[in-house]
Parts: sequence; structure tokens; C-alpha cells
Amino acid sequence: MKKKTALKKKLLAFNWKMNPKSIGEAKALFVGVKKIHKKAQHSVALVCPPYPYIAELRKLSTQEGLSLGAQDVFEEKEGAHTGEVSLSMLKSMGVAHVIVGHSERRASGEDDAMVNKKLLTTVGGGVHALLCVGEEERDTQGKYFNVVETQLRTALEGMPTARVKYLTIAYEPVWAIGTGDHAEPADVEEMRLFIKKVLVDIFGRAKGANVSVLYGGSVNGKNITPFLEGTGCDGFLIGGASLKEKEVRSMCEAVELYGEKA
Ligand code: PGA
Repeated sequence: MKKKTALKKKLLAFNWKMNPKSIGEAKALFVGVKKIHKKAQHSVALVCPPYPYIAELRKLSTQEGLSLGAQDVFEEKEGAHTGEVSLSMLKSMGVAHVIVGHSERRASGEDDAMVNKKLLTTVGGGVHALLCVGEEERDTQGKYFNVVETQLRTALEGMPTARVKYLTIAYEPVWAIGTGDHAEPADVEEMRLFIKKVLVDIFGRAKGANVSVLYGGSVNGKNITPFLEGTGCDGFLIGGASLKEKEVRSMCEAVELYGEKA
């Protein structure tokens, strides 16, 4: 008889963006998330707060299955780069995951070459990168596949195959971010398979097919289940809904329910 293989835990990556307004609120939210996630069996949670909160939240983050990540990193090691934060600084704060190439950073001037440098710095330093890709619009000719492929190929240029274990892709169509207008699960699944195909082409079947792919864009407690049931996504990158405990609770519960049934 075929043995039932254990389902891989889903990654719930919470991107707090430039929220909340104070360390007091950040601590309260973090403690809330920690409580909600305490008994989770089928997910791991990653909270990505703004830089200044990382040190304080680290003191509260001792719970299995819950870790802290950063929303960005600068590509240089040290020196005269006013306002920037290096990978070694983040590592020294216990950060093991960094979001790279988020569309909101791309919108404020980060180009593919910069995303590539940041990605190589991150994975080169043994830190997991959540590389964000996604089209600005869904045209009728399917050009969004080319957009995503170009983003992937330029960001991953020069990345040694040995570092693939540090790579996760977050498919985040820009038009779905923060708009309430999420993508359809069937379209996400189609894109997920396309992303896997490109990764296999770059890194070979053994490594490329193992890279986790997340979906992000207006995910919340109400719409997460169709994504769990209708896609093979390994998890989600969640912005707005990650700031509300009620939403965090329903997303965690939905993953538990799905995990029990699967
Ligand atoms: P959203 O953001 O969930 O608010 O759409 C997702 C993201 O930007 O990562």
C-alpha cells in the first residue's frame, strides 16, 4: 500500500510594510500573532517587520515555527551608504529570511540589476530570499508570462545552483497588491507551473522543481481557502491582512483545516 506522505507545511509570510506606527503596537501585534500561531501544525509563520522593530521583536520570538524576516537588504557589505542596512547586520539580529524585489521597492526605483545584486548577496550569505515577481497588468496576449520570466532570469543571473536551497519565489501580480482584487486561483496555478518550468530550465530538474512558490496579492482570511485547494502554492506573502489579528487567526485556521483534510 502506498504510504501517505506528510504534507509540506505552508509558509505564511507576513509583510508588515511600513506598519504599525510604534514599537508598542508592533510588540502587541507580534505577541498576538505568536499566540494565534502557537499550536499550528500545518504552517510556519514569518513576520517581516520594519527594520527598527527587529531587535525588540527578536526578544519575543522564541517559538517554534515562527521567525523574523526583513523586507529588504542593501547589496554592499559595509561603508558609506547612508540609510542602508547590510546583510551581516540582519544576520546578527537573527534574520534568516529577506524579501527581495518587492514591487513597492521596484516602484520606487529598484531595477532588475539591483534586485539581482540583492538576491546574490542574500543567498550568498546563507540567508533565504523571498524573490518577488509579478506583472503590472494582465493583458489578453499573455505577455505577463514574458514579464515574469524576464524578472526571474535577470534576478537569478549568476546564482550558483548550490544556493538554490535559499530561494523562494513569491508570485505577486502588482495589480492585486493591496487592492482587494486578488488573482484567480486557476491563473495563479498556471503561473506557478510556469515559474517552476523556468526554474527547472535555469537550475535543472532536481533543484529547480524543489523551489517553493508563494502567492501574494490581497490574500485574507476569507479568500485563502480557494488558494489552498485550487493551487499547489507552498504558502502566501500577506500584507494588509497580516496587520489584523482577526485575519491572521482565520488564515491560520484555514491552513490547519486544509492540512487536516489533506
Ligand atoms: P497585500 O500585500 O496582501 O496587502 O496585497 C501583499 C504584499 O505586498 O506582499
